[in-house]
Amino acid sequence: MEMHFSANLNIMIKAARKAGRSLVKDFREVENLQVSVKGPGDFASRADYAADGILRDELMTARPTYGWLGEESGGQDGSDPTRRWIVDPLDGTTNFLHGLPHWAVSIALEHKGDMVCGVVYDPMKDELFHAEKGNGAWLNNTRMRVSGRGNLNASIFAAGLPLPGQFDARQMLNDISRLVPHCAGIRRWGTASLDLTYVAAGRFDGYWERGLDIWDMAAGIVIVREAGGFVAPLEKDDGILEKGDLIVSNGGVFEKFAKLIRQV
Ligand code: IPD
Ligand code: CA
Ligand code: CA
Repeated sequence: MEMHFSANLNIMIKAARKAGRSLVKDFREVENLQVSVKGPGDFASRADYAADGILRDELMTARPTYGWLGEESGGQDGSDPTRRWIVDPLDGTTNFLHGLPHWAVSIALEHKGDMVCGVVYDPMKDELFHAEKGNGAWLNNTRMRVSGRGNLNASIFAAGLPLPGQFDARQMLNDISRLVPHCAGIRRWGTASLDLTYVAAGRFDGYWERGLDIWDMAAGIVIVREAGGFVAPLEKDDGILEKGDLIVSNGGVFEKFAKLIRQV
């Protein structure tokens, strides 16, 4: 399969790189502020807003008729009701705030309720994950596929845990204790968009989380699906994007992994 960049994908990539440059500059400052008494909190949230401004500017200037939904700037209808950008300017805020170089810019394009294009950019590692429906998934210039593992015992899974006050952690902890004896490891890396794209890249064999927002997962879902991954709701009849609970993996372990996680 040839790598193909549509005009929209090019716009998204340019915007993600520009926001990424601004965030990297601010992240260097956050690293310095770790040792200060005041800490990097305000600075990090200013960095987040600055990245949001860059993305809005780039994406809405290039496509003024599209709608917008951003974590930091809310929703806005476009004159074209069928298309909407769904944006998280900084996914992995807690990592960013603590000087952990694992966070990303996430941009999805929705068309008639369907996610058709996704870009997740990790500027610290210069890893650009992108996909367009029907055109495969790519990490920089290389085609990505989910891992080929079919054995739970050899598989590594990513998980999410609730933020303080979000919901009771017990359900996730119970899931984890059921899975631990049957797998090679579980990671909680704190950036949902990268958890998804790491499954796409075959680095994680699967991932599950509850309580996500649409901007955490919209881009990553297109990418992992295009890489051959399975994406399903945790409760069989829920809408993934509405409920925010999902289970994702390669095809080889999906049945076994989902059976363990869904068992109550
Ligand atoms: C968070 C991250 C995290 C997930 C949280 C999200 P934010 O996004 O994606 O991995 O567990 O549910 O809210 O707040 O860093 O943009
Ligand atoms: Ca997020
Ligand atoms: Ca965010």
